[in-house]
Amino acid sequence: MDAELAQLRAAATAEVAAAADAEAIEAIRLRYLGRKGSLNQILRGLGRLSAEERPRLGAVANEVKEAIAGALDARGAALAHEAMARALAEERIDVTLPGRRRPQGRVHPLRQTEDDIVDIFLSMGFSVAEGPEIEDDFHNFEGLNFPPDHPARDSQDTFFVEGGPDLLLRTHTSPVQLRVMRSQPPPVRAVVPGTVYRRDDLDATHSPMFQQVEVFMIDDRVTFADLKGVLAEFARRLFGPQTRVRFRSSFFPFTEPSAEVDVSCVRCPNAPAAPDADCRVCKGSGWLEILGAGMIHPNVLRAGGYDPETVRGFAFGLGTERVAMLRHGLDELRGFYDNDLRFLEQF
Ligand code: PHE
Repeated sequence: MDAELAQLRAAATAEVAAAADAEAIEAIRLRYLGRKGSLNQILRGLGRLSAEERPRLGAVANEVKEAIAGALDARGAALAHEAMARALAEERIDVTLPGRRRPQGRVHPLRQTEDDIVDIFLSMGFSVAEGPEIEDDFHNFEGLNFPPDHPARDSQDTFFVEGGPDLLLRTHTSPVQLRVMRSQPPPVRAVVPGTVYRRDDLDATHSPMFQQVEVFMIDDRVTFADLKGVLAEFARRLFGPQTRVRFRSSFFPFTEPSAEVDVSCVRCPNAPAAPDADCRVCKGSGWLEILGAGMIHPNVLRAGGYDPETVRGFAFGLGTERVAMLRHGLDELRGFYDNDLRFLEQF
């Protein structure tokens, strides 16, 4: 039996040494040390031995068992260690590779300017209002005091929409004055950003689609002085504290009196008093025309459902592209609509 045990030990250790993975180790453990394993089979023969031989061989068998178990554990630990080392080597991440850059979007320059304009009026207590881009004749013209054949309509060459002579792409944001009046009682203070359309050809400073911001305020004692105060404050906040404003009388069917409003040139350091004679922005005049304004015509208040005997208001409308061009020193607006990232990424 000594020889049998010795042979078992030698065979088991050789197999353990050759085991390639944790599964092989467990299979060997079962085959030699399991309940029905080789060692137990030999031990079952112990009963046949004499009382003197039994304890000695029992001790030898135990030693063999421990030796095999020890070899299995050692080999198992070595294999686990190797597997870990291999995984570390194979799965290593090369942190020196350049990262994948996620393109960062940004706000379009026109929208930035629109947001800045709107924010100034929000800070003065105005609220944002909006209206539809497909308008009807009443809101775009008739209710704004453009009689049906009035030549003032010609200055706003219009895209009519199929489905009736009455539907058109709005030519300005002023129709929203009527929509706001007809939806709420006075007083109102509204700032209305939006897209408008005119049958203009695309050139350096015109586009058939462009953006306006309409601003108006109506209550029982709004005066032309309020219009001047709000506009002067707006111009200073948008273009800088040195900015001056100038009113020239003008005509719009929906305001009376009406004015064109100029701001002192944003490029000439000493405008308006001493403009640069060769300034390409103000052409040496020291002034830039930026918007139309006036006191809302009584007929418009009436069309909005307000009583012109008890309330009055001012309104003005400006072109967002023009303001954005002035702020960024651009002499054409096409870049705003070309979707060329080389242009857009500069803002
Ligand atoms: N709606 C006018 C335009 O588009 C601008 C304007 C608005 C003028 C409000 C006066 C008052 O030209």
